[in-house]
Amino acid sequence: MQFEQIITGAAGFVGSHLCQRVSSPSAQAKTATLDLLPIDSTAASVHHRQADIRDSEALAPIVKDRDAAVVVHLAALAEAVMPFAQMGELANTNIQGTVNTLAQLSPKRIVFASSSAVYGSVHDRAVRPLPEETAAIGAYGASKLMGEVICTEWAEQRGRNSIALRFGNIVGPGCRGLIPYLVAHAHRHPEGDVVVQLRGRGRLVRDYLDVDTAVDCILAASEVPLEAGKSRIFNVGSGRGMNNREVAQMVAEVLRAQGFALTMNFDNPVPAGESEAVVLDVSDTVSVLGVPAPSAQTVAASIEQATLGHLARLRELDAEQG
Ligand SMILES: NC(=O)c1ccc[n+]([C@@H]2O[C@H](COP(=O)([O-])OP(=O)(O)OC[C@H]3O[C@@H](n4cnc5c(N)ncnc54)[C@H](O)[C@@H]3O)[C@@H](O)[C@H]2O)c1
Repeated sequence: MQFEQIITGAAGFVGSHLCQRVSSPSAQAKTATLDLLPIDSTAASVHHRQADIRDSEALAPIVKDRDAAVVVHLAALAEAVMPFAQMGELANTNIQGTVNTLAQLSPKRIVFASSSAVYGSVHDRAVRPLPEETAAIGAYGASKLMGEVICTEWAEQRGRNSIALRFGNIVGPGCRGLIPYLVAHAHRHPEGDVVVQLRGRGRLVRDYLDVDTAVDCILAASEVPLEAGKSRIFNVGSGRGMNNREVAQMVAEVLRAQGFALTMNFDNPVPAGESEAVVLDVSDTVSVLGVPAPSAQTVAASIEQATLGHLARLRELDAEQG
C-alpha cells in the first residue's frame, strides 16, 4: 500500500486533532498513522500501527511500498523542560527517531513538528524563522533544532522536501502543560486552600495559538509548492505574547464560574533550560502558507475550551470511580 500521508505521534494532542480532519473515507484509506500508543477508535485512520520510532527495524514493515507523499512527523518527547534522567530518551526519540522515520518511511516530503524552544529567550522582538535567530537554551529545544537540521540535510541529499513548523504553545481540548496542571490542582483543592505553584513571577512570555490553526498550518505545509531538494521553516503562532500570569488568570476565571477557587503563587524560579520569553513573527506563515494568525478572541476561546474539557474529563473519571 502506498500512502499519501503518514502521521507519526497520531495518538497525541496535535495528532488526534489532525486525524479528526482526515474525514472523508477516501482520504482515510490513503492515510496511515503510527504511535507508541493506540489511537482513539473514533479517529480517522484505518491503518494504525503501534510502533516505536526509536527502533528502526520496527518501522520497516509499516510501509511496504515506501515513498509516501508526506510524513507529518509529530512523534516526540514533547516536554520543554526535561529531567536529566530522561535526556537519553529525549535524544533517542527526538533525534534518532527522526533519522529512523526518514530512513524507513522515505517520504517525498517531511513536515517536521519543531518548536519555538529553538529560539531560547528573545525579549525585545517577535522572532523571524531565520537560521541566525536560533539559540536553544534547553535540551528539548536543541533536540528540535537538530531534528530540523537532519530533515534539511536529508531533503537536500535525497532531492526531497522538508518543512519545519516552529510551533508556539498550542492550546485546545486535550492540550498539555499549564492549563491541565491548573485544572488538576483546582479539582484536587476546590476551595483554593492549597496554593498552586507557578514560575517566573508570572512573566514567562509565550506565543499561544489554537490547535485548529496548528492543524491548518500542517495541512498547508503538506501541499505548499517547493522545488526538489529544498526546505523551508515557518513559525506557527499568533504573533502576540501572553505571559503565564495572564493565561493562569483566564483559566482561574473559567474555573471560578464552575465553582472552583485557585490561589496562585508565581514566585518559583525558572528552571535551567526554560525560555523566559518568545514571540513569533508569523508574517511568512500568513503570506506563504495562507493561514491567518488566530485572533486574541480565538486563543482565549481555546483556553476556555481546554479548561472546560480537562475539567469534564476529571469529572468523568470521578464518576467512573464512584
Ligand atoms: N503542543 C504544543 O504546544 C507543541 C509546541 C511546540 C512543538 N510541539 C511539537 O509538536 C508535536 C506534537 O505535540 P503534542 O502536543 O501532540 O505532543 P504529545 O506528547 O501529545 O504527542 C506526542 C505523541 O508521540 C508519541 N511518541 C512518543 N515517543 C514515541 C516513540 N518513541 N515512538 C512512537 N511514538 C512516540 C506519543 O505516544 C504521543 O502520542 C511534538 O513533536 C512536539 O514536540 C508541540
